[in-house]
This record gives sequence, structure tokens and C-alpha cells, in this order.
Amino acid sequence: MSKGTFYITTPIYYPSDKLHIGHTYCTVASDAMARYKRMQGYDVMFLTGTDEHGQKIEVSAAKAGMEPQQFVDHIVGGILDLWKLMNISNDRFIRTTDDYHIEAIQKIFKKLYDKGDIYKSVYRGKYCTPCEAFWTDSQLADGKCPDCGREVYEAEEEAYFFRLSAYADKIMELFTKHPDFLEPASRMNEMINNFLKPGLEDLCVSRTSFKWGIPVTFDPKHVVYVWVDALSNYITALGYMNEKYRDFGKYWPADVHFVGKEITRFHSIIWPALLMALELPLPKKVYGHGWLLLEGGKMSKSKGNVVDPVVLAGRYGVDALRYFLLREFPFGTDGVFSNEALIVRINSDLANDLGNLVSRTVAMAEKYFGGVLPQVRKSDALDEELINLATALRPLYEQYMETYAFQSALIEVFKVISRANKYIDETAPWVLARDEANLPRLASVLYNLLETIRIASILLSPFMPDSCEKIRNQIGAKPDSLTWDAAGKFGLLPAAVSVSRSEAIFPRIDLKKELEALEKEASVKNENEAAAQEKSIAGIITIDDFMKTDLRVGRILACEPVKKADKLLCIQVDFGSETRQIVSGIAKWYAPDDLIGKNIAAVFNLQPAVIRGIESCGMLLAVSDGDRARVIIIDDDIRPGSSIS
Ligand code: MSP
Repeated sequence: MSKGTFYITTPIYYPSDKLHIGHTYCTVASDAMARYKRMQGYDVMFLTGTDEHGQKIEVSAAKAGMEPQQFVDHIVGGILDLWKLMNISNDRFIRTTDDYHIEAIQKIFKKLYDKGDIYKSVYRGKYCTPCEAFWTDSQLADGKCPDCGREVYEAEEEAYFFRLSAYADKIMELFTKHPDFLEPASRMNEMINNFLKPGLEDLCVSRTSFKWGIPVTFDPKHVVYVWVDALSNYITALGYMNEKYRDFGKYWPADVHFVGKEITRFHSIIWPALLMALELPLPKKVYGHGWLLLEGGKMSKSKGNVVDPVVLAGRYGVDALRYFLLREFPFGTDGVFSNEALIVRINSDLANDLGNLVSRTVAMAEKYFGGVLPQVRKSDALDEELINLATALRPLYEQYMETYAFQSALIEVFKVISRANKYIDETAPWVLARDEANLPRLASVLYNLLETIRIASILLSPFMPDSCEKIRNQIGAKPDSLTWDAAGKFGLLPAAVSVSRSEAIFPRIDLKKELEALEKEASVKNENEAAAQEKSIAGIITIDDFMKTDLRVGRILACEPVKKADKLLCIQVDFGSETRQIVSGIAKWYAPDDLIGKNIAAVFNLQPAVIRGIESCGMLLAVSDGDRARVIIIDDDIRPGSSIS
């Protein structure tokens, strides 16, 4: 009988063909949790998916010469393949371009508008295009995006707003009355000090400057802000406001949203406020896990280490990789990834401790008893400690798993595995085997070892499903001795248990050789990247390169010649949020009055320069046609400050 429901989600990923090992972290953790809960007897809904709208994708698609839909379809296949490779057991996969999701988002937006929680106004503020995030001045870090550190720009446009400010007190109350709503506790302090205390402003929830989003039904030049679109996936995927699924009532509220630390703000403040406005129950918990970093920087900037999960899984096995991720780093804090740490961990825990325990035990059962243990037994005081430890393991493990302390849960299992290896040394089965009279004692020793392995294989199965299956096959465990209940009991294998040996599950890796091979691989990769870079010097730039340029529409307010400089005009340009002075070498082709009142295109984030003693902040874009130049003129009805992409 089901113990109840358990709904767990990962963030939905931006379509990217460059997912690294850090990206797989959250999905592997969610998968381990989902498998653990299923094992306990819960009816689990494990959701993941992709977050496919937004300006960044629109621009990437255009650069790739594709329609946005075609572009995302192409990339999402790779993400699905990655999750398949990593043995992710999600029950559902949502794409924000799915029809049912689009329909539901449109209804959600309309509902909030009709209620007055969304209203129309004018947006003025700072926007980070790569992160699709608006920031207030107080949130900026040194004037840049606090998430990615890139330039933000002033944006001003007609927009719809969500009354986030009206929910500030309720969010504070949520945090104070339910301190376990957001974990680890450090994240809650961060939210309170950085966002709630300075005060919540209403949130701009629509955009008009690009098209690749879900249109607002009653005002279709607006598309819904990607975070409203994305966060709502957690309920639309259950059938909220759509007919595709019908289990919203069954699974909502979510038991836990696993999210990376940098998107905790969206999940613990904006998401609950949206749900409050929709008059829906709140998720029971948001867990903001730490990041995997590389020594000295971010994973995306990897030079020396191989961070591609496909390569790593291919070399060391999916389970070894899954185990490493959850054993090496405490879930709530940042961790430093390295290929060396990965190999050392595989060798010590999997090849030495677990692998050896299984292969020695099974090999001895085959050698001394032909693979089937005799039923005559003799116990000894030496057995007690191992049996007690193995029997007490499940509650300890459960206590840690319930608080998402994967590392601690695994440490407990491996303490018992180590104890079992020590028990082999203490009981010295090879000595017992020399004397026929000791065979009942030898059978007991091997049985106790097989039982310990059985219990460990149950508790490790959420982390290493395939390897645990292989272990179970070797120790002759039947399904009814492999349940969650069975993990709490000692002595469930049949007395005449029969084992069958197979190849080593976790082969030992030669650390030195492997690091050399990886280094070689990384240097080949760097060379390839350098070659690509050279190509880029020859004219090709990446989308990231392009996104660094902030192009805006400006309206020329005034224009005058620069003294003693025949070629230059000094121009005052209105960019909506501010007026800037730009010096441009176009005097040969334009008289000062020619351009007044015209809308032009300009580079907005160019480093200011002093030209002939006059400061110039930006650059006008012009077309050069032989020895003639023409300024790019843009339609009059475009608002100054609009971004060009
Ligand atoms: N699309 C948003 C999430 C919307 S959820 C309603 C997003 N996508 S993402 O693809 O950029 O990131 C997906 C997840 O990967 C995030 O939880 C992010 O924190 C996580 N990680 C990205 N790099 C990471 C590491 N280096 N280490 C650990 N997790 C990392 O954000």
C-alpha cells in the first residue's frame, strides 16, 4: 500500500548543448531522492524539463539560422539523452513550449490580471539579458548583474507588473513561521537580508522587445516574463489550468523543489507570491543546493579538468559518477570538483571498500562451498558488532536522507562496509577453511557478510541502481529480501544461499595514468578551442561574444560641429533613461541639422573615450559604402532606449 505521495522537482534547464557535470548534480540528487522515496513505498512524481523561451534563445536561434522552435527541438533531444545516460527516473518531462503549458500560462496570467495582481504600467530598471532578470539598483553587484557579473542595461517600456510588494509581509511571515520552508538555513538568511529587508518591488512580468515567449492573450505584443512561464511549470505539468494531465489534486503541493543556490530567490520569494496570488497551497520545501566549482573558478570556464558528464560517465561508469557527486560534496554548500578527487573516491570507496567486499565474499563462498552455503552454522561473539551495525543502519540512513544529507547517509553505509571488510580480516575465513570442523563457522561468517552486502545494496540502490542490481545478482538475493522493510532486518537470505561470481563491478583506476590521459584530452580540447578561437578571429564570433554588445536606439536631440576637427560632430542622444554625448566622424556627410530628431542605432556599452578633448559615451552605427557613410536610421515610432538584437 502506498505511504502517500511525494512530489519532487528539479529546475527546468535552459536548452544548451554544453551541460557540464555541475548541471547534472541537481538532477542526480533529485533522482536519488525519488528512488529512495519509491523504495519506501511512496507514490512519487519526479518532474524535470526544459525552460525554452526568452530573448537569449531567440538570439541564439537567429544566429544559428534557425527558427526558435526548431532550435530548441534540436537541443532538447541532447538533454533527454543525457538524462537517459545518467539513469534519471523522472516520471514526467515538461517543455515550456508544450501546448498545454502555453495554454495554462496564458490562463494563469489572465487570472492574475483579472484579480488585479497583475497591472499595466511602465518599466524602468536594469535588465540582464543572459539571465533574463530585472534588478533593482540595490541588488546590483558593482553595477553589474549579481548572478552572472555581466553588464545590465537601463530598460524602459510599457509592461505588466505583478504586485510582488503586496506579498512581502506574507513571505516574511512564511519564513518566520516555517523556518524549514527554505533550506539550508543560510539561504533563508540571505533571502531575508538581501531581498526582503531592503523591500520587495513589484515585478515586471511582460516584455515587448522580443517575440519568443508566451503571448499575453489580451495584449499580444507582450510576452510573459520567462520566470513566470518557467516557475509555473511545477503546476502546469500536473494539469493545473490544462487538460493534458489530471493529477494536480493528487501531487500538489510539492514536497520539495531542488534548485541551485542562484535561483533560490525566484523559488522562495517570487514563486510563493505567485502561488499566494493564485490562492494555491505553497510547496512544502525549497532546497537551495550549493554549486560545483573548479579550483579558481566556475565550471563553465574549465581548462584543465574534463567536466563533460558524457565523457566522465563513459570512462568511469554512470553509477560511479552519481555516487561521487552525492558522496563528495555536502548538498547544501559549494564543492570543488576535480578529476583527481573523482578517481581517488572511486578507488577508495567503490573499488576497494565495496567492490572488494563483494568480490572477496562471493569468491570465498564459491571456493569453499561451491557457491552454495551449507545450512549448519556456528555463531561467535565476533559477529555481534557487525550484525548490530548492519541492523541499525536503516534508521540512521533514513534520518539523513529525510534531511537531504546524502553525503552523511552514504558515509553511514560505508562505515558498515568498512566494518565488514575488517570482519573478514578478524575472522580470517582462509584459516577457518583449512579445518573441516570449522566449516559451520566459515558458513556463518560468509552468511553474515552476504547479509551485510544485501542491506548495503538496498540502501545504495537510489544512488547506484545498476551496480546494486549487479551486486544483488551475485549474492543470490530474491526481490522480497530487497525491499525497504528488508533493509531493516538481518538474516533474510535463505540459509542455503547460492552465489554466482561475475566480473569486478568497480575496476580500480590507475590514478597517475588516468590523470595523464585526462590532461592530454583536456589539452587536445584546449587546442581545438584555440583553433575555434582563431577561426573566430577570422570573422566568426560566438553568441556570447555578440551578447556582450549592448545596441540601443537613441534619438538625436542636438548636434554641433567640433571645433578644429572637420570630420567630427558632437551629438546629444536621448536613450530614454539618460542623454549621452557621442562624438562621431560623420561631418563630411551630414550637416548638424540633418540628424536632429532622427532615431539612430548606437553601441551603448562602449568604454567612454575622449576625442579631441570631448568625452564620447557610445558609438553611432553607420554604413560605409565606398567613400560615403550613412548613419543607420530607425523608424520614428521606436522608443529611445529600445534594445536592438
Ligand atoms: N531555467 C532556469 C531554471 C528555471 S526553474 C523554474 C535555470 N536553468 S539552468 O540550465 O541555467 O540551470 C539549471 C540548474 O543547474 C540550476 O539549478 C543551476 O543552479 C544548476 N547549475 C548550473 N551550474 C551548476 C554548477 N556548477 N553546480 C551545481 N549546479 C549548477 O537556471
